[in-house]
Amino acid sequence: MRVVRHTEHGGPSVLTVGEAPVPEPGPGQVRVAVRAAGVNPVDVKLRSGAMRAPLPRVPGAEVAGVVDAVGAGVADAAVGDAVVGWPVGGGYAEYALLSVYAAKPDALDWVAAAALPVAGEAALRALRALAPRAGETLLINGASGSVGAIATQLAVADGVTVVGTAAPANLDRVRALGAAATPYGDGLADRVRALAPDGVDAVLDAAGHGALPDAIALRGGVDRVVTIADSAADELGVPFLAGGAEDQTADVLRTLLDAAASGRITPPAARVLPLEEAARAHADLEAWGSGKTVLVP
Ligand SMILES: NC(=O)c1ccc[n+]([C@@H]2O[C@H](COP(=O)([O-])OP(=O)(O)OC[C@H]3O[C@@H](n4cnc5c(N)ncnc54)[C@H](OP(=O)(O)O)[C@@H]3O)[C@@H](O)[C@H]2O)c1
Repeated sequence: MRVVRHTEHGGPSVLTVGEAPVPEPGPGQVRVAVRAAGVNPVDVKLRSGAMRAPLPRVPGAEVAGVVDAVGAGVADAAVGDAVVGWPVGGGYAEYALLSVYAAKPDALDWVAAAALPVAGEAALRALRALAPRAGETLLINGASGSVGAIATQLAVADGVTVVGTAAPANLDRVRALGAAATPYGDGLADRVRALAPDGVDAVLDAAGHGALPDAIALRGGVDRVVTIADSAADELGVPFLAGGAEDQTADVLRTLLDAAASGRITPPAARVLPLEEAARAHADLEAWGSGKTVLVP
């Protein structure tokens, strides 16, 4: 099968397209013929070496595809099923193994379904940590991003008032999600105070880029401030929500897929590139600082 991998850390060019044996599903696993594989910032960090992982590796933490083999003990999926999940051993490939998966609703196409697990799980986890209530005001730094936009939609649907930050060009997109919007960057705290004169009750930093001091100033401390992206979290005393395999459950997938299929959330709008252009997808994400790409084998 065709697969994208890297044997060293470095720039996007360390990603090479090659051949590998089609993997065999172990107990409890399904093998899918990948229809779409999401590209995430974490893939870029793991490729560059900003985050370390054993090499060689196949990047990719979310896929949608058609089950074409099942391992021992699998009772909830059959050959031919359309599923979405977190791959074991990488997703940028023609075939991937999944231990945790859920049925893809017909209402979602392959690209939309593949774009959902990583960002959606992080959004759910962050909202669970902050527990914003109806009527409270939540500041989301990076509300235009994949995680931020899902968190914005879920919070707005629960009656939370959301103030979201974005690049100037993306402010209208954030407003369309039901949030008030303001540009990120210098002077953020003052702009948020103008939009939320009674203050903000919680802050989700879904982008990083140094917004935490403003978030702390707005909250008058670190209570109910969390980040999923800023490595300065520790020194500022802000919880960094890293997430882990224990968070990646089939229930979470079903929650996200149901929310998307019912229209409660819109999955990240994704550009589609062929698998062979994985390096370009990484280079663009690094150059642009945001944007969802889904690779299609
Ligand atoms: N800890 C975890 O569990 C976890 C899970 C998922 C993601 N993450 C991390 O969360 C971050 C966002 O992920 P994502 O998938 O949502 O990425 P994304 O879709 O690429 O979105 C990136 C967001 O960052 C914003 N941004 C770009 N430059 C900025 C700046 N200078 N100041 C403030 N905001 C800026 C973008 O706004 P514009 O597009 O409007 O410029 C956009 O809202 C990444 O760092 C990712 O690694 C962490």
